[in-house]
Amino acid sequence: MKILAIETSCDETAAAVVEDGRKVLSSVVLSQVKEHRLYGGVVPEIASRRHCESICQVTKSALEEAALSFEDIDAVGVTYAPGLVGALLVGVNYAKSLAYALQKPCIPVHHLRSHIAANYLAFQELTPPFLALVVSGGHTHLALAKDFTDFKVLGRTRDDAAGEAFDKVARTMGMEYPGGIALDKAAQRGNSEKYILPIPKVENPLDFSFSGLKTAVINRVHKAEQKNEPFRKEDMAASFQKTICKILVEKTLMAAEKTNSKTAVLAGGVSANSQLRREMKSACDRAGLKLYFPPLNLCSDNAAMVGSQAFYEFKAGRIGGLNLNAIATLSLEEGE
Ligand code: KG4
Ligand code: ZN
Repeated sequence: MKILAIETSCDETAAAVVEDGRKVLSSVVLSQVKEHRLYGGVVPEIASRRHCESICQVTKSALEEAALSFEDIDAVGVTYAPGLVGALLVGVNYAKSLAYALQKPCIPVHHLRSHIAANYLAFQELTPPFLALVVSGGHTHLALAKDFTDFKVLGRTRDDAAGEAFDKVARTMGMEYPGGIALDKAAQRGNSEKYILPIPKVENPLDFSFSGLKTAVINRVHKAEQKNEPFRKEDMAASFQKTICKILVEKTLMAAEKTNSKTAVLAGGVSANSQLRREMKSACDRAGLKLYFPPLNLCSDNAAMVGSQAFYEFKAGRIGGLNLNAIATLSLEEGE
């Protein structure tokens, strides 16, 4: 089954063709990041406008890259939640219209489910059940994937998402949006013992909280600036990254033990972080857990992952009607 997938939840306009949920026939991603960088973050109105302008061409390129025509497609998959609602609406309306015109099913896909599904494209042997840590710019979730379309959320962030904390800390130190990658690079040249940063406490031990950690870094940076103290941003980047990785790794292992999981899966933009990948791998090796994380090109937003998850949603009987709408906030458990 060949699915044409569309993703417009944030600042990437993406289209892909994926066969049977596992084989990428094409994947095209048009990033708007350069434009949003001028404003230090994603401007929702600009994102929606650019999606409108690019969606037809990006889809056409995805079909061309796969050497297919619209008639060869069996279904259209689309990210409908969660995300920037105006941005999502572009993809949802485009996908619905296309599916209607072609008389093919339109399959709604939850964005975080698709981040997890990125792993199915790279690891053919991977099947649920497994424990998933989803860390993106807008979300931080620990969830049990009981099946391809059946999830139980074990913990989530009470405030900032992990990626958001990376981006805000990076911005405070003058790094360009989105700062996660720049901070990762700077941390490699820093001394992670230089600053002792707080590990926030939360009621449910599997929940996360990054706002106190983020504020501690921002205050420390501002204090150094005000007092004209010597300050190396590489040291702060390394100290911050060490702390956030420690939190993410510890909670993932705690959740694995609690749920008796044998396999763990990383997903979302922050799963590209070099230290997180390294430290999660060694912690999982020590605990006898098999760990999967996506190749770098599948960590950030793309439509191939949407095409993968759409296949499993379709198999579970999920087809969107003409009343399918975009939803800004929706739990991983309800993505149907
Ligand atoms: O999943 P994603 O592409 O978009 C959302 O769904 O939010 O995630 C984007 C986030 C940004 O916050 C970005 O800074 C972060 O992923 N990110 C990283 C790295 N690469 C991207 N964070 C830490 N280290 C990285 N290497
Ligand atoms: Zn994402």
